Amino acid sequence: MSEFSPWKSTSLLHEVLEAHDGASKGKYTIGLGQDCMGFCTEVEDVISMSLTVVTSLLEKYDIDPTQVGRMEVGSETVIDKSKSIKTFLMQAFEKCGNTDIEGVDSTNACYGGTAALLNCVNWVESSSWDGRYGLVVCTDSAVYAEGPARPTGGAAAIAMLIGPDAPIAFESKFRGSHMSHAYDFYKPNLASEYPVVDGKLSQTCYLMALDSCYKRYCHKYEKLEGKQFSMDDADYFVFHSPYNKLVQKSFARLMFNDFLRNASSVDESTKEKLAPFAALTGDESYASRDLEKAAQQVAKSHYDVKVQPTTLIPKQVGNMYTASLYAALASLIHNKHSTLNDKRVIMFSYGSGLSSTMFSFRLREGQHPFSLSNIANVMNVDEKLKSRNELPPEKFVEIMQLMEHRYGAKDFVTSKDCSLLSPGTYYLTEVDSMYRRFYAKK
Ligand code: ACO
Repeated sequence: MSEFSPWKSTSLLHEVLEAHDGASKGKYTIGLGQDCMGFCTEVEDVISMSLTVVTSLLEKYDIDPTQVGRMEVGSETVIDKSKSIKTFLMQAFEKCGNTDIEGVDSTNACYGGTAALLNCVNWVESSSWDGRYGLVVCTDSAVYAEGPARPTGGAAAIAMLIGPDAPIAFESKFRGSHMSHAYDFYKPNLASEYPVVDGKLSQTCYLMALDSCYKRYCHKYEKLEGKQFSMDDADYFVFHSPYNKLVQKSFARLMFNDFLRNASSVDESTKEKLAPFAALTGDESYASRDLEKAAQQVAKSHYDVKVQPTTLIPKQVGNMYTASLYAALASLIHNKHSTLNDKRVIMFSYGSGLSSTMFSFRLREGQHPFSLSNIANVMNVDEKLKSRNELPPEKFVEIMQLMEHRYGAKDFVTSKDCSLLSPGTYYLTEVDSMYRRFYAKK
């Protein structure tokens, strides 16, 4: 772990976007809970962002590229229906003579990064592990057609190194998954980058998946440990973050789960406040605004301690699809690295369609260069967020229109304008008449 992009990339203030879109004041900032949204200009895409994070990670941790034996990419941003993003990243390894790297891309909405991560962790724990590092890359540009979903966009890439004796130690036995068929968010139109979204259904699917994963996680924990699991057994909860309001509701929903399970984490006053909702059916409980409010109210003080430190990058950059969950983890490391020793972190990954998993790990300070403090240092989150360029909404709309036009196109050169990018950032220069893509490094 870990390197994070964007560097000095572009962002848009939600307060300004609200006014531009004619939305009521506070809808994006309080209603969705977002501060800012990152996006790619015409010189950046999921390949350039992932080339940037991979090369930066190798350099900053001084990793010999021949020491990587598996690389997995999670993304739902389709640039080519056959050629994986992973093969583009091989350029960083081929030049050092290393073509012996297993793994390709994993795709299922925002879940692909978790599929990639679990593949790499499983590889390192397996009999086919050859002693080298695994490398996981999550990269997405989340863009929506004009309308209510557009302010929940974002863009980023994250690279994570996987190996033994890490400061982030997986509790691989405790995993709960929920996989099912749903049409909540999908991309059937191959001529467009935009998804088809049933926003309300996607919120319910997310919460149903959360309930199901949490029950299974608790069950596995209880079977193996011989004691009940409650939210008190975890120090931090990290959620896939389409927008912050859903994260607030998700944490409250876990508290309602603990209440229904009569877990030790729930005090008398919480029991009293949630008692009127004890007899609701599952469907009624997802629809109940009163329950949502009551649960958020009783969860608030715990949220401030166990979730708030994970929300910085998702609130500042928006939904990064596959990278969203790991950007939330990066926020936790950034905010709390000096006090994370022996803390348990619960992760909830959700990808529409749908795939979801809850898993956990324990943190420890670790050895340089992979100590938590050095990871925080390398990620340099404050500086990256601070040095972004803020563009006005009109420019954002103009860029979205150009990208719609360019999507799936060939035979064009970009502006090659990398003035907004930090040194070391890769950018797209050309797509030739054979759809081959060319990149340069600033
Ligand atoms: N001040 C404060 N709050 C406000 C204001 C205001 N002026 N106006 C509205 N709000 C609140 C609403 O009450 C609502 O809060 P609530 O959820 O607590 O009720 C919130 O802002 C959002 O308002 P809605 O009217 O519900 O928003 P809308 O339906 O226009 O869009 C949605 C929201 C559905 C999330 C849309 O942005 C979307 O479709 N996003 C993409 C789908 C998505 O991200 N799904 C999540 C899981 S799947 C995935 O990760 C892609």
